Amino acid sequence: APYSVEYHDAIDSTNARGRELAKAGDSDVVVLADEQTAGRGRLERAWNAPSGGVYMSFVLRPDVAPMEAPLLTLAAAVATTRALREAGVDAGIKWPNDVLLRTTGEKLVGILTEMEGEADRVSWVICGIGVNANVDPDTLPEGATSVREQVGDVDRRVFAQRVIEGFDSLQTDPDAILGAWRELAITLGRRVRVETRDGDVVGEAVDVESPGRLVVETEEGTARVHAGDCEHLRP
Ligand code: BTN
Repeated sequence: APYSVEYHDAIDSTNARGRELAKAGDSDVVVLADEQTAGRGRLERAWNAPSGGVYMSFVLRPDVAPMEAPLLTLAAAVATTRALREAGVDAGIKWPNDVLLRTTGEKLVGILTEMEGEADRVSWVICGIGVNANVDPDTLPEGATSVREQVGDVDRRVFAQRVIEGFDSLQTDPDAILGAWRELAITLGRRVRVETRDGDVVGEAVDVESPGRLVVETEEGTARVHAGDCEHLRP
């Protein structure tokens, strides 16, 4: 889909704006901002979004069930990681969709997907991506890094355009998304602990399956995890 871009110097939250557009019936829009005053993170957390970052939200009306929406989040992680690597940043994906610096595990990108709809089909999905781009390291939270800190500043318009094109080229094709995700992942082959609603799953992460489940070999056998907070453990 050709996306139209709605650009803001500053906005409360590109996801909140995306939600407004989605509720008004819009689709295939990307809300892009240089700064957010009320950025939202996962688990009701605030997302630090100073000027110089790339904050973007895809407004989508895909023909998918809510169960399949996590694939779009994986696609967003793939597109963003590719754009970072093109900029010379050694980025990799931690399941399901954190983009980290491979060498240190510091966070470069956060992704927040929101949706609404019926059990068999979503009416809309907002996929929000926050990139620590041209941001001073001292304004970042503990455990985070920025493109500026690693390789210097990028042209944010060009960067955003690469993410949009990369996301668009993956469509909603599960094989394309999962194939690319596996190649860019840093979680596969590692020992992990995933906190799930049904308790912790600890073992070696061996694969990702549609629509985004992590396959973990544990002492009790193979576990398939839909969602949870993932921690990489020392080998
Ligand atoms: C996380 O907690 O890791 C997810 C952070 C997601 C932040 C992005 S920035 C663009 C979009 N708009 C928001 O308010 N949040 C997301």
